Amino acid sequence: MARILITSAIPYINGIKHLGNLIGSQLPADLFARYNRARGNEVLFLCATDEHGTPAELAAAKAGKPVAEYCAEMWAVQARIADGFRLSFDHFGRSSSPQNHKLTQHFAGRLADVGLIKEVSEKQVYSNADGRFLPDRYIEGTCPNCGYDKARGDQCENCTKQLDPTDLINPRSAISGSTDLEVRETKHLYLRQSEMRAQLSEWIDSKTDWPILTTSIAKKWLNDGDGLQDRGITRDLDWGIPVKKGDEDWPGMEGKVFYVWFDAPIEYIACAAEWVDAGKGADWERWWRTDKGADDVRYVQFMGKDNVPFHTLSFPATIIGSGEPWKLVDYIKSFNYLNYDGGQFSTSQGRGVFMDQALDILPPDYWRWWLLSHAPETSDAEFTWEAFQTDVNKDLADVLGNFVSRITKFCRAKFGEVVPEGGDYGPEEQALIDALDARLDAYQGHMDAIDIRKAAAELRAIWVLGNEYLQSAAPWTAFKTDPDRAAAITRLALNLIPFYASLSAPFIPDAAAAMLTGMHTDAAWPEDAATALARLPAGHVFTVPEVLFAKIADETREEWQTRFAGIRT
Ligand code: MF3
Ligand code: ZN
Repeated sequence: MARILITSAIPYINGIKHLGNLIGSQLPADLFARYNRARGNEVLFLCATDEHGTPAELAAAKAGKPVAEYCAEMWAVQARIADGFRLSFDHFGRSSSPQNHKLTQHFAGRLADVGLIKEVSEKQVYSNADGRFLPDRYIEGTCPNCGYDKARGDQCENCTKQLDPTDLINPRSAISGSTDLEVRETKHLYLRQSEMRAQLSEWIDSKTDWPILTTSIAKKWLNDGDGLQDRGITRDLDWGIPVKKGDEDWPGMEGKVFYVWFDAPIEYIACAAEWVDAGKGADWERWWRTDKGADDVRYVQFMGKDNVPFHTLSFPATIIGSGEPWKLVDYIKSFNYLNYDGGQFSTSQGRGVFMDQALDILPPDYWRWWLLSHAPETSDAEFTWEAFQTDVNKDLADVLGNFVSRITKFCRAKFGEVVPEGGDYGPEEQALIDALDARLDAYQGHMDAIDIRKAAAELRAIWVLGNEYLQSAAPWTAFKTDPDRAAAITRLALNLIPFYASLSAPFIPDAAAAMLTGMHTDAAWPEDAATALARLPAGHVFTVPEVLFAKIADETREEWQTRFAGIRT
């Protein structure tokens, strides 16, 4: 039994995420967690909300709420929607937790002790009207690169150039709009990442099995020089983790907090501590400390491509720099973007389908199946309503759903709701079993390698085998001349239902559960097809399940297309 630690990039607290965010991290992580649990591995699957930084403060201000209250509310909203999509986190934590405060301050203290932190006096924009500094998104102005007039202090959304607040032309406060700004000196802590170039480069070079997307981004940043510049890890903000050196005050840093990208990945560790403190686990260090049992853990991270530099360089710099035996990531699965109907999903512009809206119109399995089977692994992918309708109707309703309903209803009509006895399996059954074994092998290989599209294609092919078998064995015809033969075919086909449910559960957990409930049995990962297809013996009672998947009608699809064409406000 392997031990697998899985984390999904932690979503920003401000607002509900769209389907592009979901397939970029949380959903594939859930697929992998469910698969590994089904294989009998010990899994710890963690996610949390990313609650600090200017996005949280600005969103709270817009909502007219104190930021702590806003974050607590939005955490509950995100947790509820995650449940709605059946994301099976062992714990859904918060980067604002006391556990993360303690760990973040601990790491900063260690890094200071080993000489990897320097104090830098730098120029920051100060707003006289607001009586505060304006870091990152607190300041807006005209982009010096493209002339866009709503560029933010950290980045221009129009041309994506990374900016410093002092770069902006005609800068104004994002809080009050005031232009009464001045540049003031302020002191900040910098992490001396540049000192660690050799170590990081060696570590990344040792990861020969990583996806090309991950390695190419990591190497680009490493070799560009830009990515490993010493980095400011503190900010002049109220909301965040107070700058401390372990438990001690940090002279000169009073009133400052750590930068959101410093504390957010540390939440991966703190979340395990939260999991224990919530009474869900006994020992988090055996997942995170290689001196305390984590040396045999395989740690896999999931994230969108924009997050890769932080996970291949900055966070490892924190971990390695501490000189303590923390677990480093073993495998980073990263994703390209999912586009929406000819454009981009956009949170700031409210374009696309958001997670709450998706669940308002269809149950989670429809979304899970479509998104996972189109995961943007090797290139960007595109969501269109037509493709969604076609694939869902075909794969889920025509292939899987129809198979289950056809054979269970046929059996009920001819033999009753019980697995029939009589008859023998012949060459046709053997051919099916051989084909299933080959595909089962391939499916497991793709799931182990986290090749999600390939795994989905293999699973679909496994479903198709059942339909083809039923079509050619035709128990309804056999029944007229040879009822025993019809009984044997039906017995085998009924046994395919729990086999399919067990294999499909990581993709479509609700439908899998309904199939197993209908067949009055439990999930069991198949050793091989022959054994698995003998699980329900003659005489085993079942209940014809409800319709598993309803088809999406053209009018419905058109209605949704219109409803989601606009901008969500
Ligand atoms: N909140 C970030 C985003 O949505 C991801 C943070 S991942 C972590 O892009 F490593 F910082 F935790
Ligand atoms: Zn620009």
